[in-house]
Amino acid sequence: MMEKEIVFSRQAIDDRVRQLGREIAIDYRERPLVLVGVLNGAFIFLADLARAIDLPVTIDFIRVASYGDATTTSGTIRLTKPPETDLTGKDILLVEDIVDTGTTLAWLRQYFKEHQVASIKICALIDKHERRKAEVVVDYSGFQVEKGFLIGYGLDHAEQYRNLPAIYTGVVDE
Ligand code: IMP
Ligand code: MG
Repeated sequence: MMEKEIVFSRQAIDDRVRQLGREIAIDYRERPLVLVGVLNGAFIFLADLARAIDLPVTIDFIRVASYGDATTTSGTIRLTKPPETDLTGKDILLVEDIVDTGTTLAWLRQYFKEHQVASIKICALIDKHERRKAEVVVDYSGFQVEKGFLIGYGLDHAEQYRNLPAIYTGVVDE
């Protein structure tokens, strides 16, 4: 069982995602944009964000393993699914659910740089500060939080709760 408390409502998420979409559309006008979602967490955010960007975009996904079922990062990143688009010379916007220590995004940014992309920027729905270790610039961030473990709207705890329509703090009753 889980006691949960709402942090960002469906409406608040909706409003913020639309704003991000408008900002991105302005910044990338007349540039062929590739949205690359980080699986699994970003799939719901990416689905909404893509529809809020009034530009021709292509969509791909990348998957890395680092977290397992724990709530802290292991620090080791492994690529488990590369993007299938030819990335060379493309403007890439990496779409992530949440930045915590920053280990994952620092690794991913490096990965894209090594693939000779034209540009790489990061869009994260949530920018969580307290445990940041790697320096990462989040170019577009939906919400800032200091700490806490969040679930819902793509965010999981041990692969559960991704389908909750809003974002909650989860307190697990063991
Ligand atoms: P980082 O490498 O420590 O920045 O971890 C980023 C990844 O950890 C995210 O892509 C999430 O999958 C996971 N993560 C970090 N914090 C949370 C959280 O509060 N809820 C759910 N997943 C989280
Ligand atoms: Mg996760």
